[in-house]
Amino acid sequence: MKAIVYRENGGPDVLRLVDRDLPVPGPGEVRVRVAVSGVNPTDWQARSGLAHAKQFPEVTPHLDGAGVIDAVGEGVDRSRVGERVWLFMAAAGRPTGTAAEFTVVPAERAVPLPDEAGFDAGAALGVPALTAHRALTVAEDGPRRLRPGALDGAVVLAAGGAGAVGHAVIQLALWAGATVISTVSGPEKARLATAAGAHHVVDYREGDPAAEIRGIAPDGVDIVAEVALGANIALDLAVLRARGTIATYANDGGKPVELDVLRSMVLNARLQFLVLYTAGPQARTAAAEDVAAALRDGALPVGAEHGLPLTRFPLHRTADAHRAVESGTVGKVLVDITS
Ligand SMILES: NC(=O)c1ccc[n+]([C@@H]2O[C@H](COP(=O)([O-])OP(=O)(O)OC[C@H]3O[C@@H](n4cnc5c(N)ncnc54)[C@H](OP(=O)(O)O)[C@@H]3O)[C@@H](O)[C@H]2O)c1
Repeated sequence: MKAIVYRENGGPDVLRLVDRDLPVPGPGEVRVRVAVSGVNPTDWQARSGLAHAKQFPEVTPHLDGAGVIDAVGEGVDRSRVGERVWLFMAAAGRPTGTAAEFTVVPAERAVPLPDEAGFDAGAALGVPALTAHRALTVAEDGPRRLRPGALDGAVVLAAGGAGAVGHAVIQLALWAGATVISTVSGPEKARLATAAGAHHVVDYREGDPAAEIRGIAPDGVDIVAEVALGANIALDLAVLRARGTIATYANDGGKPVELDVLRSMVLNARLQFLVLYTAGPQARTAAAEDVAAALRDGALPVGAEHGLPLTRFPLHRTADAHRAVESGTVGKVLVDITS
């Protein structure tokens, strides 16, 4: 099979297209013929060694993808052969990511993809949707699971709603019944966040965003899903309601976090940090189940018309796909395995 691998950490040029033997699924695992691989910032961060040192002599990158199960290991129901699936955390703690014609993952990381959902939508889920789910389910007064109605009456602020995770926050919050506000950096991103379903968009670079958000939600915001904590903590605390939660999955821009302890205390605010790897199997399984339900409901479409433009590369140009993500390409970067 054809696979992308890297043997040392470094820039995109360390990625090589090679031929490898077909991987064999072990007990509890499935082998998937990958159709589309989804690229996330964490993939280039892992490749570069920024996130952590490489754990295996040779690594095929990418956590997310979608395809069809073509073999199962011992203990996995044989009826799963032929099942269309979306994958999450394929390369987490394993050397076999989705940038290859075939990958092997634990059976629970291959989630059925409904017939109505294409492989692009499936490959775009993993990291963004599961992260968004966690951000929306860690509030003190909020639900631990998402379903239609779970966030009825709640106000969610999706910071940077034109980003991949921000997009998933908007879609899942909307599906669960929340009023969704998104911050954006300009009119093009406002268009995307609106296309994703945000009820209100606020340009965080113009005017007085806190006053604008307070105007929309006079009682304050219940949950902020935050991508740039240092840059936005003051804004978040200015619009948060009592016992509200700031769920932060990144500090894009790298600005140091200056926490107003008194205001946080007065609000009984919750500042929740999140990363999928250590969220625990229970939270990830719950997230995968709820995301699958949202997908079945047609709540997670992709493409520019739904606020998530797709940029595609063939497998042999995976290095360019990494460059695209690293340089901040708007929307979702996908690698077509079969082209
Ligand atoms: N913790 C986790 O488990 C986890 C999971 C997924 C991703 N991440 C991290 O989360 C970050 C985003 O990932 P992604 O895939 O969504 O990337 P992305 O598609 O590139 O989106 C990043 C978004 O952040 C927005 N942004 C940057 N600074 C902002 C600010 N000050 N205020 C509001 N929005 C701001 C950008 O919007 P503008 O250009 O309009 O500012 C952009 O839309 C990355 O650092 C990634 O490594 C963490």
